[in-house]
Amino acid sequence: MAIWSRVVSGLVIFQLVTGNPVPDTNHDNIAAIERRDSPAPGYASPPYYPTPFGGWASDWSEAYTKAQQVVSQMTLAEKVNLTTGTGFFMGPCVGQTGSALRFGIPNLCLQDSPLGIRNSDHNTAFPAGITVGATFNKELMYQRGVAIGEEARGKGINIQLGPAVGPLGRKPRGGRNWEGFGADPSLQAIGGAQTIKGMQSTGTIATIKHFIGNEQEIHRMSNVAQIGYSSNIDDRTLHEIYLWPFAEGVRAGVGSLMAAYNDVNSSACSQNSKLLNGILKDELGFQGFVMTDWLGHYTGVASALSGLDMSMPGDGAVPLLGDSYWGSEFSRSILNGSVPVSRLNDMVTRIVATWYKMGQDKDYPLPNFSTNTQDQKGPIYPGALFSPSGIVNQYVDVQGDHKVTARAVAREAITLLKNENNVLPLATNASLKVFGTDAGANPDGLNSCSDMGCDKGVLSMGWGSGTARLPYLNTPQEGIANVTQNAKFYLTDSFPSGVTAQAEDIAVVFINADSGENYITVEGNPGDRTAAGLAAWHNGDDLVKAAAEEFSQVVVVVHTVGPILMEEWIDLDSVKAVLVAHLPGQEAGQSLADVLFGDHSPSGHMPYTIPRSESDYPDSVRILNQPFGQIQDTYTEGIYVDYRHFLNAAITPRFPFGHGLSYTTFNFTNPTVSVGTALNSAYPPSAPVRGSTPVYNNTIPAASEVSWSSFKYTRIWRYLYPYLDNPASIASSDKYPYPDGYSTTQKAVPRAGGGEGGNPALFDVAFSVKVDVKNTGSRSGKAVAQLYVQLPSSLGVDTPALQLRQFEKTKILAPGESQTLTLEVTRKDVSVWDVVTQDWKAPVNGEGVKLVIGNSVADTPVVCVIGRSCSVQ
Ligand SMILES: *[C@@H]1O[C@H](CO)[C@@H](O)[C@H](O)[C@H]1NC(C)=O
Ligand SMILES: *[C@@H]1O[C@H](CO)[C@@H](O)[C@H](O)[C@H]1NC(C)=O
Ligand SMILES: *[C@@H]1O[C@H](CO)[C@@H](O)[C@H](O)[C@H]1NC(C)=O
Ligand SMILES: *[C@@H]1O[C@H](CO)[C@@H](O)[C@H](O)[C@H]1NC(C)=O
Ligand SMILES: *[C@@H]1O[C@H](CO)[C@@H](O)[C@H](O)[C@H]1NC(C)=O
Ligand SMILES: *[C@@H]1O[C@H](CO)[C@@H](O)[C@H](O)[C@H]1NC(C)=O
Ligand SMILES: *[C@@H]1O[C@H](CO)[C@@H](O)[C@H](O)[C@H]1NC(C)=O
Ligand SMILES: *[C@@H]1O[C@H](CO)[C@@H](O)[C@H](O)[C@H]1NC(C)=O
Repeated sequence: MAIWSRVVSGLVIFQLVTGNPVPDTNHDNIAAIERRDSPAPGYASPPYYPTPFGGWASDWSEAYTKAQQVVSQMTLAEKVNLTTGTGFFMGPCVGQTGSALRFGIPNLCLQDSPLGIRNSDHNTAFPAGITVGATFNKELMYQRGVAIGEEARGKGINIQLGPAVGPLGRKPRGGRNWEGFGADPSLQAIGGAQTIKGMQSTGTIATIKHFIGNEQEIHRMSNVAQIGYSSNIDDRTLHEIYLWPFAEGVRAGVGSLMAAYNDVNSSACSQNSKLLNGILKDELGFQGFVMTDWLGHYTGVASALSGLDMSMPGDGAVPLLGDSYWGSEFSRSILNGSVPVSRLNDMVTRIVATWYKMGQDKDYPLPNFSTNTQDQKGPIYPGALFSPSGIVNQYVDVQGDHKVTARAVAREAITLLKNENNVLPLATNASLKVFGTDAGANPDGLNSCSDMGCDKGVLSMGWGSGTARLPYLNTPQEGIANVTQNAKFYLTDSFPSGVTAQAEDIAVVFINADSGENYITVEGNPGDRTAAGLAAWHNGDDLVKAAAEEFSQVVVVVHTVGPILMEEWIDLDSVKAVLVAHLPGQEAGQSLADVLFGDHSPSGHMPYTIPRSESDYPDSVRILNQPFGQIQDTYTEGIYVDYRHFLNAAITPRFPFGHGLSYTTFNFTNPTVSVGTALNSAYPPSAPVRGSTPVYNNTIPAASEVSWSSFKYTRIWRYLYPYLDNPASIASSDKYPYPDGYSTTQKAVPRAGGGEGGNPALFDVAFSVKVDVKNTGSRSGKAVAQLYVQLPSSLGVDTPALQLRQFEKTKILAPGESQTLTLEVTRKDVSVWDVVTQDWKAPVNGEGVKLVIGNSVADTPVVCVIGRSCSVQ
């Protein structure tokens, strides 16, 4: 989601008058989508038509049957209504579709964000995705999803716009990496799937986003001078890295998916037929619906044919003019025959089936909040010139006891990077001197920066649409002061003069690093960390160094969106301990105090690598910026992202992916591997035959179904309707310039497809590793077992030395206590994407596969060689 605030502040209508490929909504054509200058040589997106029909997956068949029964009775106006948003600011939510009230289907409400309800009240501000990833705790990932789903439902939100699993974190400076779960496909996949299952268990539809290759903020959208960038991704890299979490999200049953703003291979993601029709809906078997990102809709007919199902918020190239690529123009494109009725029926069926699948036909609340204002009363349609007014905010408290989950996530994410002389945990009588504005509140007031677009006080989340208002903020200062009276606070980022250390004093220094979404620039950073780089903000390095000069014991607490450089101070004698608390949300203080004072041992692990230098990354992952022409962002580093690159280039990072210490120690013993479904062939057996899909009468409907004159509505100016003046004059024509490769004949199942997420055999458990984890230290704590695979060279392609595929976390283990963990590895987990056969290829019987388990990618004491035994080193 974008631009919201920009439009509010009226700054940028001109920026939205974009270099869109098709400025005239009535005359879009396929050729125009290809009008992208200088595509990268070799990177093109092949045509893939038609859109596969949804409904063949068995766990969706009941919902599709219900949907078929109502969609077959719908008029053209009702169908178009459900595909198109009513327009920017045309309702309570950040987006809403039209309705089909004859069938009890209201305007479906869509609202941000992945970490809670945006622009609302009496909601929980949960820890951000990156924090959730750092917990390596599947149960907490699920519980947070449940809590977000309950809050969405309580506010009457049908479709909540999260989780984000893209960006994946390819670019360390990328602005929105923190919305996702970490720089690894399996960590993203598990975080995303658990969140989806949790959210949807409450009846809320989850939205997996942004599909795909949205790895930097700047120039993701078009502006007057240029078209949004093209992410040029080769087939293997797409499958093994960026698509992986989306595949798991589809397998988890996600109801909706948001297309990214950018292009892939010079074709916009919201109308890239290869991506939407081919990869998402055929290969991954996605049964839900695809929406645009906000104003990321670029053509009418072409996008429909390419697999888009919903236009959000509905507006055309220039918002707020009552103009849409769909809406009434969609009605026209059905009447003139350019979009087959079968495509429209599939789009609407996907939307209605998802609504039934989540049970939203039964007692689902209507929206009782407004994203547009905090006032109780206001215009119902703020985007209209004249709007009726009414009560728009009912201030429904949806928080329940979710703060307990929020605090548990924030606490379990806290990652101990270093702890010399066991300076942590702190004794409650320790004499503490606390430094840094990041320990306190925003002096301008809670939520004083719209969409968190500033870095003041403790960094609880990044900025942009991926935020929620804080109902309150428990700061580190409050959390610490609640435990001890022996702490003195200096909430300043320049080391105060006149502070002198006593021998027993411990300095606790808070620093942070922020980033966010492109429509807000904070301290010179337009989303991505272009100005700040990977350094701590507000001269955080200097604050640490000054404290380290004065105090002999320094604890550094970092709140950050992603990797920061620590080289200036990490090896200083007095810097004894470092905690990364990520982005903790509203429970920042107590969660930290829980760990600082030892009520809980830290159990978080780094969801990305901390480098020694930014030059340790491949050159291809820097932020690209150029004033004119389309940016070609080619993924030349391929699958070597984050730790895969560091391993491949033999660069020792400062702290490896997965690293995280505890106050106690753990020992892995007795590893054993058992074989599940044997991998007796390199490629998986063919998928079972797909089920049937709804059958419709696909005759072009009567023009009167969308005629204004058939309706007696008060027309709200700028609101998007499905109706046309004089539609009877529209003649069906076969003159539409369909693209090469266009077809209306449904394709056979691709060999990698056949189930949700891909061929079901890919998810057979091939190996199951059991390992005992024993607490060998003197304090209680939780351990994480991270399982990495190493694939043999017999697969014929280079693979990273280690790839995370699974993890499990223990319960709290008392000193001496053990727990057996079981880590399951699927066929897909030990496969590579074979670009020739277009299928996943595994070593037969797992020959040569190594499964290693440990505390980080650089510390893997347990080694199991398939076919031989396991050992502990
Ligand atoms: C993009 O181009 C690369 C290189 O030709 C190709 O391997 C890949 O399949 C293309 N991807 C899409 C989605 O078109
Ligand atoms: C289309 O949706 C609008 C609300 O957005 C509603 O007023 C109108 O009645 C709907 N049309 C039909 C035919 O149901
Ligand atoms: C049918 O209508 C759509 C929507 O206005 C338009 O884009 C398309 O070009 C039209 N088709 C023909 C053949 O004129
Ligand atoms: C608002 O919230 C309450 C409580 O969740 C719910 O009962 C109601 O249906 C919602 N919608 C409206 C329009 O009141
Ligand atoms: C804290 O208390 C312990 C014993 O309860 C004592 O040994 C220690 O010196 C105290 N530390 C400080 C800084 O007062
Ligand atoms: C102080 O700590 C107690 C015990 O953990 C807790 O219940 C309370 O909410 C805390 N208050 C604040 C303001 O942190
Ligand atoms: C783990 O436990 C085994 C068996 O008790 C012991 O031999 C080994 O030294 C321990 N390893 C570590 C790292 O503590
Ligand atoms: C299909 O719909 C058209 C237009 O509404 C109608 O004329 C025709 O009779 C229908 N065909 C069947 C088999 O129901």
